[in-house]
Amino acid sequence: MSKLLEISGLRISFESGFGKVDAVRGVNLTMDMGDAVAVVGASGSGKTVLGRSLLGLVDAPGVVRGSIKFGGEEIVGKSEKELRDIRGLGIGMVFQDALDGLNPVYTIGSQLSEIFTVRLGLSRSAAKSRAVSIMEQVGIRRASERYHDYPHQFSGGMRQRICIAMAIGLKPKILIADEPTTALDVTVQAGILRLIKDLQAETGMGLIFVTHDLAVARTISTRIVVMYAGQIVEEGPTEEVFRFPKHPYTKALLAAHPARVRSWRDLEPIPDAFVTDPSSGETTGHSSPSIVITN
Ligand SMILES: Nc1ncnc2c1ncn2[C@@H]1O[C@H](COP(=O)(O)OP(=O)(O)OP(=O)(O)O)[C@@H](O)[C@H]1O
Ligand SMILES: [Mg+2]
Repeated sequence: MSKLLEISGLRISFESGFGKVDAVRGVNLTMDMGDAVAVVGASGSGKTVLGRSLLGLVDAPGVVRGSIKFGGEEIVGKSEKELRDIRGLGIGMVFQDALDGLNPVYTIGSQLSEIFTVRLGLSRSAAKSRAVSIMEQVGIRRASERYHDYPHQFSGGMRQRICIAMAIGLKPKILIADEPTTALDVTVQAGILRLIKDLQAETGMGLIFVTHDLAVARTISTRIVVMYAGQIVEEGPTEEVFRFPKHPYTKALLAAHPARVRSWRDLEPIPDAFVTDPSSGETTGHSSPSIVITN
């Protein structure tokens, strides 16, 4: 049986006239059905780029090297057409920026309904009732009226919830959620987390949840992956990592202010000595490890 997801030796870099940015520097990660992996790490550590690469959404000048296997099938190097079949139904993603996922010229309802007719083959009326019910599930009040509104008539948090509805409505085998609840207030956030957890229990989908919120990471995940400067510096069962962090970066964070620090972004800049080269296992000392300027 092949793994649900198997990432090995993944490297992603962006090269331009200004130099080279190594956004992901040798990531290995495997995942089975039902796994809930929280990916945490400082801003710029490569979480979003990693997530997007699973959908083949690293745009030029980004270069992806290594292997990403979804159910045994290689994703790296697939054509747009082949990727289209995987996106949404196979691997769904809630983007960090809600505007990435919505088209401003169509109503919210038509966008939701369309993906259900096109991707799930539902009739127009079945797609509409599914759309309304999923809008209700993500906490949109008066959903059948709001169905006819355009994205600009929704608040940022509501748009984010629609993107969540779109992704989970297709019941993907893997859901990648990139900071999906950051913009939402605490009550709505709790509701969304519950919804994602319930869906996971129901369908056994794998979940990759990117967050900088430690409390959220602890609630949602069974496994935690700590990224720093494009590398996974620590990985393990969530409770184990919280209780017995091994890596200096993780330790520094958890030791700092257990009560007050809820966010990885609250951390001071991290000494570069924490960064290890994945090929040699040696600790390196770049002045800015996530950005390597070559000229
Ligand atoms: N299209 C691009 N062109 C050039 N560099 C990019 C591009 N996309 C991402 N990067 C760089 O890749 C690195 C990782 O970015 P990424 O967005 O994955 O970080 P992140 O961990 O998601 O951060 P945040 O917590 O702020 O969302 C950063 O140095 C970023 O500047
Ligand atoms: Mg990001």
